[in-house]
Amino acid sequence: MNVLSVVAVAIWAMLPAYIPNNAAVLAGGGRPIDGGRTWDGRRVLGDGKTWRGTAVGVTAGLVVAGVLNVLEPSVSGALGVGVPRFPAAVALALAAGAMLGDILASFLKRRTGRERGAAFPVVDQLDFVVVALLATSLAAPAWFVSVFTVPVIVAVLVLTPALHLLTNGIAYLLGLKDEPW
Ligand code: CTP
Ligand code: MG
Repeated sequence: MNVLSVVAVAIWAMLPAYIPNNAAVLAGGGRPIDGGRTWDGRRVLGDGKTWRGTAVGVTAGLVVAGVLNVLEPSVSGALGVGVPRFPAAVALALAAGAMLGDILASFLKRRTGRERGAAFPVVDQLDFVVVALLATSLAAPAWFVSVFTVPVIVAVLVLTPALHLLTNGIAYLLGLKDEPW
């Protein structure tokens, strides 16, 4: 595969994991997952991780996977490179894994004394990728190794921070997010 094909597969395969975070930003609010509880004087997760944001995020990722499945034949044809379809288990692992990664990062941020919204470079940009990929490799090992080849994983790790900073920057400029990270 040439570089452009690798990039196309990487972005396509990660879309069900990229969308949940953005959907959570749009939908966030309401009851925090930790119910306001603290651990060692600091919030377990904080007000930035809510039930509604998480549920809407996972649902959005599943819907995106479904839409991509419908588009797959025409996109593969137009690009001349086979982009993958997402079995249900894969779609769920990517979407829920992404949300879980973001939640785990908040847990780490609170334990290291970072207030809600504080930047945690690298972790902020890659938390959801690492957990989404891990969850997918466990849920569907054969699908994982056929789609996430080493070049595709490298492309994901290089492109994701850039895409994440770009979409969060846009959300910030639109007033949807309090910080640009
Ligand atoms: N959000 C949510 N539920 C999630 C993830 C995000 O409701 N599981 C919403 C919240 O409104 C949150 C916003 O999306 O404030 C931005 O997400 P993020 O940057 O991840 O949260 P922060 O508020 O920055 O909190 P943290 O420091 O814990 O990351
Ligand atoms: Mg944040």
